Formats: sequence, C-alpha cells, structure tokens
Amino acid sequence: MIKNIEVLPDKAALVQRSLALVLERLQDAIAERGMASIALSGGSTPKPLYEAMAEQDLPWDKLHIFWGDERYVPADHPDSNEGMARTAWLNKVPIPAANIHPMPTYESDPAIAADQHEQELQQVFQVQTGEFPTLDVILLGMGDDGHTASLFPHTEALQVRDRLVTVGNKDGQPRLTFTAPFINQARCVIFLVAGASKRPALTQIFAPEADSTSYPSRLIQPQGELWWLLDQAAAEEVV
Ligand code: 6PG
Repeated sequence: MIKNIEVLPDKAALVQRSLALVLERLQDAIAERGMASIALSGGSTPKPLYEAMAEQDLPWDKLHIFWGDERYVPADHPDSNEGMARTAWLNKVPIPAANIHPMPTYESDPAIAADQHEQELQQVFQVQTGEFPTLDVILLGMGDDGHTASLFPHTEALQVRDRLVTVGNKDGQPRLTFTAPFINQARCVIFLVAGASKRPALTQIFAPEADSTSYPSRLIQPQGELWWLLDQAAAEEVV
C-alpha cells in the first residue's frame, strides 16, 4: 500500500486536487484496460467534485459508476447518495444508463438488497463468490466519528470479511455498504476530508495504535494506493 497524505489550503483546493487525481486514475485505467470503474461516496464533501466531473470531456461509455454505500431510501429521497450524484453529475453527461450501478433500496429487507447488489457486482466483474473484484477508484468520506462508507463504529458490518456488500447500521437506520475487504481490493482509494470537526477522528486514525472498531476508517488499508486529501481545517494539529 502506498499511503499519501496531502493537505490543501481550503475545500475548493481539495476539490480541484481530487478532480485531477480522479481524472488521472480513470484515464490511466481506460488507456490500460479499455474501461474504468469508480465507486462514489455520499455525504456533502464530494458534491462539488461531482459537479466538476460533469464539466469534463471523458469517454463516458467506458466508465462504470458504483456507490460505496447508500442510505436505505428511494433514489428521489433527499438523503439518497445516488440521487445526489445523478443531480450533480450523471444526469448532465451522456453516460449509458447500463453503466450506472446504484445500490438497490426498494426491497423491504435490506439484506436481500445487499445480496442483489453482490450478485450484480459479481456479474459485472465476472467473479465468483469469495472473489473480490478490483475497482479502479473508490472515493470515501469520513464521518466525525471516524466511520467511512457505512462502516459505523462497533457495528456488525465491520466484521464482514467474506462479502462485497453488507448491511450497515447508523443509529438503527439501515444502510448498504461495501465491506472493508472489498474496498481494500481497489487500485486507488481516495478519502476526501474537510473541516475542523474531523480532527479528533483523524488523530485516532493516523495514530500508530488505536481501535479500528471505534475508528473504522483505520480498516481501509488498500492493496493499491491510499490517498488522504485533507483541507487545512481538518489537518491542523493532526499532520
Ligand atoms: C454517507 C457517506 C459517509 C460520508 C461521511 C462524511 O453516505 O454519508 O458515504 O460515509 O462520506 O459521513 O460525510 P461528509 O462528507 O458530509 O462530511
């Protein structure tokens, strides 16, 4: 694992840096393998990045879009990560509908939805159960509590090692989430973290020793590149 920590002066610079890095890795993937895959994160930080992606001139038919986690709501719900990315980016570019792979949130039982998405990922990447496909880029945010995707502190999702997708739990609310081992299979994982409220968790996550079940972002140790893109407000007194 190649770990890079970069501190940018403010959130706008963080977004511009993440845009450059994402474009570089996606264009490399397309050049090398003819296709590129990216998993999007939710929350508020990445929205301006998605808006900037909508302005790019990419071979959209060669790009496949996934989400690293999803709130268990319909796509038209204000909390939907899919809805946010479609509005900010995907509805504005000519990407084939078949290249967009949202996490399904219409089954009454989230565990069934997790199984459905697991099967879709296995189909798209032509892997068998127990095999972990390699996405080119996985974007992640980090909550003030140190969670990432929907891998929340002290939840069962943190222990799942033999699946790509599992059910997360935020204060009793169901989520769907990539598992830590699936995220760690990626070629390039990029955390986008902004704001002073992230400092306490970042301190624990960058510490030599700390409890990963309390700070789940510590579980993200990809076989490929790991980038932490921080704004100054988040990084102060941490790095
Ligand atoms: C989600 C995200 C979540 C998010 C963090 C940080 O569904 O909410 O995937 O993991 O990235 O909570 O959110 P902010 O970027 O809003 O700080």
